[in-house]
Amino acid sequence: MWLWLACAAEPNTSDTAPEATISWAADVQPMLSNYCGGCHGDSGCTTGLCWLDSYDTVVGETNGGCASSVAECIPIRIEDGTMPQGGGCPPGEPGCIEPFELDQVKRWIDAGMPR
Ligand code: HEC
Repeated sequence: MWLWLACAAEPNTSDTAPEATISWAADVQPMLSNYCGGCHGDSGCTTGLCWLDSYDTVVGETNGGCASSVAECIPIRIEDGTMPQGGGCPPGEPGCIEPFELDQVKRWIDAGMPR
């Protein structure tokens, strides 16, 4: 368990070179704004759910306890079908997040959630 965690935390520079530059501001935030901005962005969020436009909130807080940060909760909630709220928008469906975009979120988390 501990060994696995240690390994998972190692930066892998060999096969993740293109993702080395992935960032919240340039990649993840604009992409999630398309799908989640209506409820989690500055324009449409209710108190406690306004993580989309704040890096500090998305990496540093959690309301639901699904993971240790909102960021880590994002792929979990998409994959279990509870986000976007109400379900009915599985990855790859028209108008829903694309599977490669979901992978991008995961790679960003694995990369240590760079700002
Ligand atoms: C129709 C409005 C709506 C949309 C669209 C929406 N959400 Fe949510 N989201 C909510 C509400 C309301 C909650 C709080 C209740 C809950 O956790 O189910 C929530 C909670 C969350 C949480 C838990 C936050 C925490 O602090 O633990 C995550 C993560 C999340 N949403 C991710 C997403 C993602 C990713 C998308 C886009 C793919 C999305 N949501 C789209 C309404 C929405």
